[in-house]
Amino acid sequence: MFKFIIEEARNILEKDPAAKNLFEAIFCYPSLKAVLYHRWAHKLYNKKRYTLSRIISQRARRKTGIEIHPGAKIGRNLFIDHGMGVVIGETAEVGDNVTMYHGVTLGGIGGEPNTKRHPTVEDNVMIGTGAKILGPITIGRGAKIGANAVVLKDVPPYTTVVGIPAKVVKTNRDDYLMYVI
Ligand SMILES: CC(C)(COP(=O)(O)OP(=O)(O)OC[C@H]1O[C@@H](n2cnc3c(N)ncnc32)[C@H](O)[C@@H]1OP(=O)(O)O)[C@@H](O)C(=O)NCCC(=O)NCCS
Repeated sequence: MFKFIIEEARNILEKDPAAKNLFEAIFCYPSLKAVLYHRWAHKLYNKKRYTLSRIISQRARRKTGIEIHPGAKIGRNLFIDHGMGVVIGETAEVGDNVTMYHGVTLGGIGGEPNTKRHPTVEDNVMIGTGAKILGPITIGRGAKIGANAVVLKDVPPYTTVVGIPAKVVKTNRDDYLMYVI
């Protein structure tokens, strides 16, 4: 647990130029608190202790403004800068090293219970403030989602999308080629 906290705090220090030291990263960032609560809630969810896991995730929401459903799968080094107003749905999957800002939603658009209703976000994705990513779509590795974009379709790896509905504005060819070769 201690190792996990240090690793996540180092990740915050690396990603946020405003973070000045490890102490600040551990105690002043809602992201780390939310991720710790989520680890606890997710373990209980996997043991089918659904109500208790929801109580924990709602406590995290009150404390951080970040609501991560206990069923969501979250990778390592997730950094949610500022935190407030973030919602991550039950069947969302978030890879490693993902950065998101306040006001991001990884949401559903209806669908049957016990089916995949929320997005999958692959490793190294950046999701700008206020972006809404809706439905069981995939945001490819290394993609960038512009602030306030509404994303309704899959985003290819190493691609930047912006706007409502989100459209491709850039592909980082070098990173993409390194990935496919
Ligand atoms: C999308 C983003 C990653 C693009 O960065 P980039 O790769 O450097 O791309 P550019 O700035 O060259 O933008 C490419 C085009 O998209 C447009 N664009 C960029 N961000 C946009 C946005 N959020 N919404 C709409 N259009 C946007 C640019 O105007 C530019 O259009 P043009 O080619 O017609 O001039 C960045 O603009 C962004 O939104 N980052 C989010 C950061 C954030 O949320 N910060 C919060 C800190 S508290």
